[in-house]
Amino acid sequence: MKILALGDVFGEEAVKYVSSRLPDVISKMNIDLTVANCENASGATGVEPKAAEELLAAGCDVLTGGNHSFGKPAFLTYVEDKENVLRPANYPPSAPGSGYCITRAATGERVLTVNLRGNGDMQPTLACPFETLERILAHESGNYDLCILDMHAEYTSEKLAMLYAFDGKVNVIFGTHTHVPTADAKITEKGTGYITDLGMCGPVNSILGVDSEAILRNMRHKLPTRFVTADGPCRAMGAIFETDASTGKCTKVSRVEF
Ligand SMILES: [Fe+2]
Repeated sequence: MKILALGDVFGEEAVKYVSSRLPDVISKMNIDLTVANCENASGATGVEPKAAEELLAAGCDVLTGGNHSFGKPAFLTYVEDKENVLRPANYPPSAPGSGYCITRAATGERVLTVNLRGNGDMQPTLACPFETLERILAHESGNYDLCILDMHAEYTSEKLAMLYAFDGKVNVIFGTHTHVPTADAKITEKGTGYITDLGMCGPVNSILGVDSEAILRNMRHKLPTRFVTADGPCRAMGAIFETDASTGKCTKVSRVEF
């Protein structure tokens, strides 16, 4: 099975960019399941239902979130009845939506996708991601053939820690949030495919998707600013994980851009 995982889709132009190219990518690369992080799909702080629907219609099977999942008021009701649009699973159970789902890949395999948020340099503090994932895996044991984790976190160490804690138990682990792809894609001896951060689908000439002047105003001149999505051409970054149908183990991982 081939799983395409796309980094944070940032802004309306990026939604259009990904949506217009994804069907072709899925077809040409024989992708069986596509997961994309959508928490910035309507700009720096959240996703409107329309943007999420556009990504789903283009071929995304599961959309994940993070620290900005609840940034847009409309998302709170939208996510209630969208099983494959996730928010981090370590939010309190009373939060709208779900932190994981089981979907069928094109191969027929049952794929458990879990979305977690790190606690390092992020507010509010959420439940322990380790305990949350352990509980989900135990609860869904026997109901899935393969497990994917999107660990949305600021710290590289927090993402790596998930790999060492769940090596061999989760088949594919990737990180999101920092918008900068890392060069550490690998497969462990126990068959877990891993990359610390997928990168971003969004404006090339930007600081993490945001207009650079806005960031400099804040970072250099210490002035209040509004994070405006940068204009200009987009690129999509992610990784493709190939897994063995009989064992679920990851056999190949490669970074991808389109
Ligand atoms: Fe984020």
